[in-house]
Amino acid sequence: MKVLVIGGAGYIGSHVSRMFLDRGYSVTVYDNLYSGCRENIFPEAKFVKADILDYSTLEITMKGGFDALIHLAALKAAGESMSIPEKYALNNISGTINILNAASITGVKIIVFSSSAAVYGEPEYIPLDEDHPTNPENFYGFTKLEIERLLEWYDRLKGIKYAALRYFNAAGYDPEGRIRGLEKNPQNLIPVIMEVATGKREKLQIFGDDYPTEDGTGVRDYIHVTDLADAHIKALEYIHSHKESLILNLGSETGLSVLEVLETARKVSGKPIPAEVTKRRPGDPARLVASAVKAKGVLGWNPRYSDPGSLLSTTWKIYGSSG
Ligand code: UD1
Repeated sequence: MKVLVIGGAGYIGSHVSRMFLDRGYSVTVYDNLYSGCRENIFPEAKFVKADILDYSTLEITMKGGFDALIHLAALKAAGESMSIPEKYALNNISGTINILNAASITGVKIIVFSSSAAVYGEPEYIPLDEDHPTNPENFYGFTKLEIERLLEWYDRLKGIKYAALRYFNAAGYDPEGRIRGLEKNPQNLIPVIMEVATGKREKLQIFGDDYPTEDGTGVRDYIHVTDLADAHIKALEYIHSHKESLILNLGSETGLSVLEVLETARKVSGKPIPAEVTKRRPGDPARLVASAVKAKGVLGWNPRYSDPGSLLSTTWKIYGSSG
């Protein structure tokens, strides 16, 4: 099968591309390299360097005839989305409209979309299942939810079947160490910890230790990117055989606190990783943990690398040997 991976040079997209190649798919990566890295594009993949706002290049590329699109191209800084929403509206929402229109015209019938747990907002109950009300707390989460709604309409009106995969906190690196591109200016907890461990940053700021959690720090559900990549393939194969759209949470169903992540990183790296407690970051919920019962049941998916040790050791393998 032939797949177009839009955003395939990014952190998650490169892991997804790698696994499709490993499973014998023909892969074309479409990426503007705004946050993605050229070194994340594998020699076996074709590459189109272009933006999703460039409609004509999208349409010309899709005329190559693809069995499916994997759409991971997006801006993802939740904080920035609150101060510059127009940038997120344009890139995430308008960009996806271009993708959907090009898919309609060129006859692509399957889209696997990277959605986010940010569509839920502040949890009303834990673990969060797919029936939990969607009430995004930030504009980034709103763009993901809007895209899910667009997908639903293009399914109804154009027969494009989709999987909206609601990722919890993506983390880790390819266990075989084949993906070496680091995120530029990361804001997320694990890459920030890694930059402290390698001396690129002075210390970790722990955003609050007065949350109603066991140790007072924020609890998240970290899911390994290799497990996420596997779910993309399983979702595509499911849609291909069942001709049915899907909305699925992808998480490990385990909560880890900031301190637990930090302790594991210290153990794995053997570095002291200095940290200080600072004030809470606005908009951060105390605890987010997924129910992934649906993905497990429907796809037969089971995370293999999402234990704390594997999450941190696969990441340290890359950061510890970088630069
Ligand atoms: C955020 C977004 C999520 C998005 C993801 C990827 C929200 C609520 N969530 O996840 O939708 O998909 O980023 O971009 O907007 N922390 C620190 N110090 C740091 C960094 C983080 O203490 O320097 C803490 C945070 O307070 C949080 C945990 O670590 O408790 C995880 O934070 P982070 O990695 O930024 O991810 P989320 O905010 O959960």
